[in-house]
Amino acid sequence: MKSIIVNAYGGPEVLKVKNVEKPVPKSNEILVKIEATAVTRASVMMRTGTPYFGRLFTGISKPKVKTPGTDLAGTVESIGSEVGNFKVGDKVMAGTTLKCGAYAEYICLNEDDMIVCQPENISHEEATGIMDGGVTALAFFTDQVSIKAGDKVLINGGSGSIGTAAIQLAKEFGAEVTAVCSGKNKTMVQELGADKVLDYTKNELERSSELYDVVFDTVGKMSYGKTKKHLSAKGVFLTPVLELHILLSMLFISPFSKKKLKFAATGLRKLDLRLRDLKVIQRMLATNKLKTVIDKVYSLDQIQDAHSYVDSGRKKGNVIIKVA
Ligand SMILES: NC(=O)c1ccc[n+]([C@@H]2O[C@H](COP(=O)([O-])OP(=O)(O)OC[C@H]3O[C@@H](n4cnc5c(N)ncnc54)[C@H](OP(=O)(O)O)[C@@H]3O)[C@@H](O)[C@H]2O)c1
Repeated sequence: MKSIIVNAYGGPEVLKVKNVEKPVPKSNEILVKIEATAVTRASVMMRTGTPYFGRLFTGISKPKVKTPGTDLAGTVESIGSEVGNFKVGDKVMAGTTLKCGAYAEYICLNEDDMIVCQPENISHEEATGIMDGGVTALAFFTDQVSIKAGDKVLINGGSGSIGTAAIQLAKEFGAEVTAVCSGKNKTMVQELGADKVLDYTKNELERSSELYDVVFDTVGKMSYGKTKKHLSAKGVFLTPVLELHILLSMLFISPFSKKKLKFAATGLRKLDLRLRDLKVIQRMLATNKLKTVIDKVYSLDQIQDAHSYVDSGRKKGNVIIKVA
C-alpha cells in the first residue's frame, strides 16, 4: 500500500511517498481503508519537530513514528476475531494523536481507540476535517470554561481550523460571538454564526471597549498582558498555543486575579475524554449543528504541496488529503 514515510524532521520535502506492506488487524483491531486525512497544524509541528519540547513526545533527534497524520475517515475493510464495536463496511472517523499513521491507504486501529461511525449526512472529507478543530475547540469549551447562554465570547483566528469550529460551538452554547479575522474572511465567519466581526489587520479589537467573558486566541497571536483589558471581571483567556510569553504570564499571574489564563494540550488528554468529545461532535454533525469548513483538497501524492500551504498560516478551516 501507499504510505507517507518520514525519516527526519524538516520541511515538506521530508514527506516521501513509499510502498509498504499493508497491515493485518490483530484480534482486537479493525483494518480501515483510509479515504481522507487532514493536514493539521499538529502534523506540521510533528514534521518540523518544533517547538523543541514537543520532541519529548515525538522523538528527540528524528520522528519516532514513520507515518504521520493524526486524523482520518474511511471504511472498515476487515476486523479481528474479538472485535464487537464495528463491522465490515462501517464508515468511521478516528483520531490517532501521537500514534499517527493516517497518511496511508490503510491503518489498523484498536477498536477501543478514538473512533466513531461517521454520520450519514457528511463526506469522508468533512468527517476527517472536523476532527482537529472540532474536538479541540469543544475540549476548551467544556474542560477549561463552561459557556452559558448570553456569555460574550471573542474568538481570535475565527477563520482557522479551531476558529471555524469554535464559532459554531460557542453559538450552540448560546453565546454572543465576536470573531476576529482579516477582511477577506469576514463573510465566511458571519455565515458560521459570528454576531460581530473584527478585522485584525485594522486593529479593530484594540479600538473596541467591549468586554468578553471568554477570549479564545485559537491561533496564538495575542498576549495575555495586552488582552486582559478586554476581559470582563471574571473573564478567561484561552489559548491552545504555548508560546514563551504565555508560559511566563501563567507563572506570574497573581493567584488573587479573578481573570484567568488557561492553556491545554487537548490531544494529550485521556482517551475517554477525547472519545466523549468526538461523540458530541458526531451528534452535532448528524443534526447539522456543525459543519466542516474545507479550504483545499490534495491527493496523497501532493502531500508536500499540502504541507507547504498549511505552513503559510493562511488556510481557511481545513486542508484535506483525499487518499482513495
Ligand atoms: N493545544 C491544543 O490542544 C491544540 C490542538 C490543535 C491545534 N493547536 C494549535 O492551535 C493553533 C491554531 O491551529 P489552527 O489549525 O486552528 O490554525 P490555522 O487553521 O492554521 O490558522 C490559520 C488561520 O489563522 C488566521 N490568522 C493568521 N494570523 C492571524 C492573526 N494575527 N489574527 C487572527 N487570525 C490570524 C489566518 O487568516 P488570514 O489568512 O486572514 O491571516 C488563517 O485563516 C496552532 O498553533 C496549532 O498547533 C493546539
